[in-house]
Amino acid sequence: MSDTKAVEELSAAEAESELARLADLLSRADAAYHTRDAPIMSDAAYDALKARNAEIEARFPELKRADSPSDRVGAAPSETFAKVRHAVRMMSLGNAFDADDVRDFDARVRSYLGLGADAPLTYTAEPKIDGLSLSLRYEGGRLVQAATRGDGEEGENVTANARTIDEIPRNLGDTAPAILEVRGEVYMDHADFAALNERQAEAGDKTFANPRNAAAGSLRQLDAEITRARPLKFLAYGWGALSEALADTQMGALARLGRLGFVTNPLTVRCDGVPEMLDHYARIEQQRAELGYDIDGVVYKVDDLDLQQRLGFRSTTPRWAIAHKFPAETAWTRLEAIDIQVGRTGALSPVARLAPVTVGGVVVSNATLHNEDYIAGRDASGSPIREGRDIREGDWVQVYRAGDVIPKINDVDLSRRPADATPYDFPDTCPECGSAAIREAGDAVRRCTGGLICPAQAVERLRHFVSRGAFDIEGLGEKQVAQFYRLGWLREPADIFTLKARDEAGDKAVVPAAERIARVEADDRPEARLRLAEAAGLDAWDRDAVKARLEDLGATPLAQVKGWGARSAENLFAAIEARRTIPFDRLLFALGIRHVGEVASRTIARFHGTWADFTAAMDAAADQQGPEWERLTGIDGVGGTMARALVTAFAQPEERAGIDRLLAQLKVEPVEAPAGADDSPIAGRTIVFTGTLERMTRAEAKARAEAMGAKVSGSVSGNTDMVVAGPGAGSKANKARELGVAILDEDGWLDLVGQS
Ligand code: IVH
Repeated sequence: MSDTKAVEELSAAEAESELARLADLLSRADAAYHTRDAPIMSDAAYDALKARNAEIEARFPELKRADSPSDRVGAAPSETFAKVRHAVRMMSLGNAFDADDVRDFDARVRSYLGLGADAPLTYTAEPKIDGLSLSLRYEGGRLVQAATRGDGEEGENVTANARTIDEIPRNLGDTAPAILEVRGEVYMDHADFAALNERQAEAGDKTFANPRNAAAGSLRQLDAEITRARPLKFLAYGWGALSEALADTQMGALARLGRLGFVTNPLTVRCDGVPEMLDHYARIEQQRAELGYDIDGVVYKVDDLDLQQRLGFRSTTPRWAIAHKFPAETAWTRLEAIDIQVGRTGALSPVARLAPVTVGGVVVSNATLHNEDYIAGRDASGSPIREGRDIREGDWVQVYRAGDVIPKINDVDLSRRPADATPYDFPDTCPECGSAAIREAGDAVRRCTGGLICPAQAVERLRHFVSRGAFDIEGLGEKQVAQFYRLGWLREPADIFTLKARDEAGDKAVVPAAERIARVEADDRPEARLRLAEAAGLDAWDRDAVKARLEDLGATPLAQVKGWGARSAENLFAAIEARRTIPFDRLLFALGIRHVGEVASRTIARFHGTWADFTAAMDAAADQQGPEWERLTGIDGVGGTMARALVTAFAQPEERAGIDRLLAQLKVEPVEAPAGADDSPIAGRTIVFTGTLERMTRAEAKARAEAMGAKVSGSVSGNTDMVVAGPGAGSKANKARELGVAILDEDGWLDLVGQS
């Protein structure tokens, strides 16, 4: 198969003939495996062919065959689903945990829309179903595609499975919009869940921990016939792409979905204001145990769809909706040990190892203990928490879990404390590399000072580098990165891009075997040696044997290394090659600079446009003063802390050298302006809003400007293209006049963006 072309290079004709060949080959393989129990190829080869088939189908959806192996019943269980890109991103929801959070949400919505506290504003309130979301695409009334949420942008194609669910109509009749994407939750009710688990247990098959897992496991079955046998349900709560509006209001749209044949939740009501929302929340919470299915809160949505449209979205959540979660679940258990994990920025994080306990249907055996002050019973300012009770190994502790977040330890029961328990002694050296771990003034966290000599930090940085929002290299996950690091094949991100050349040259080591060995020998913990031995495939430490194995592995082509094959090695190198071209924002996020997350990376990338402009700006701002520094800290969403972390990363010689080595391997794509922004009159311009706007709030103006491709800054400088000044504008307008920057009033701004 080494002559196989990359999918991106296939012509439509080649794709078509390859799909035909794959359908034939895979159906023979299926028959051999399932019907005759006599496989004609290895599982790995089968998986690779299925994956290639799916990849071709994803690129040429119109060529997908009626007998596509992707939809075939009887596929091997390790196969993956084809990926599909959502026409409209699938969002998640922000959370509210108490009445104050709900009041804040309402206040934010009103402030964004410029509505007074007493102006009428209607919301809907409905249960938040604890299942998994699904997007159903109908064209001409027919179900053509069903996709899971995935990362919101790309999900899995589960069309064949969705077609087996009774509550998902396959044909909506001719009153449906030409294009309609219905979104809702797939779930399993309690009775069906119990019956399923009983059947599974009887048949000696695995049982599910909760209805959510059962629903997810049942929908994501490669054999759609298994899905058919599972009692799944579907509740519609929203929509994605549409060729025409469903109604004027959320409530009206749900009614329309009901008429088209979808089940919607009968517990959805309209509420005029926060008190009614909270009442409905209390009512649903009371009914929770009798509903017969799992819910984990109540979702509030602005009812008026024009207002929803104006409010729009933050990066991953709508401004017009929020989930009001039910209180978290808690349970008591014994704290068996406190372990310290070292993160990518060197932070030492204490983790509680617990006697396993079920908290709200999920078995928990690890929980976070935040930091050393938290363990000692103090907050960041030194004031007591838990009335000053500290936490010790051996204690009985209360575990708390809310939704998907990492469980926490809430409290400790002193009456059950063992007589010999001693206060926890937080380490002042790094448990991974032995370097000093220090706490800087004002920092709640103790950090390892070992930098890149600390294997934990180096591995965590590499892991972050290949993670989903970053380089997301298929076949190079956390496990492989850690393994390659231990073997001395990778030390820093740049090495990923030279791996293939080193593999071909017959020497993969960037760190020679002797050096790897010297390093673990300098470490006085025996685990360090054992881990290296294990990475080399030995079960005990024997210096010479490990050295020989490391040298041997470094010289062996990856395709012949245990656990790899020709196909998987080739796939890995192809996946790495595919990422040599990388969008600016992903690259910035991948660097793992403290405080610079995915959202900030996108903001900064949009602001600077190209990597070259950005690095020039970092250099110019290195002294943390002057116009470039002001411009950086003026970017909306970049505060002083983040700006300092950024310029420090670029000014610090070692870190900068690592970045430069990486950049020498890459081509960085400038960020894409949002769709439709290209031809906008403000694309690429830097705008500052100041004073009061009267026809839209400043938040709305800013969101609008960004959606049209402009950069919004908080301060005026020589780089500012225009200042939009409302009444009450002061120093910023003056500065703009001094610098000769164009100043618009609100009407001028509305004219410019076509809103007057
Ligand atoms: S609305 C843009 N309504 O909760 C609005 N979501 O935490 C997106 N969910 O991914 C969602 N019940 O899977 C909405 N009544 C409901 C829901 C609901 C459950 C899920 C959904 C979403 C997740 C967000």
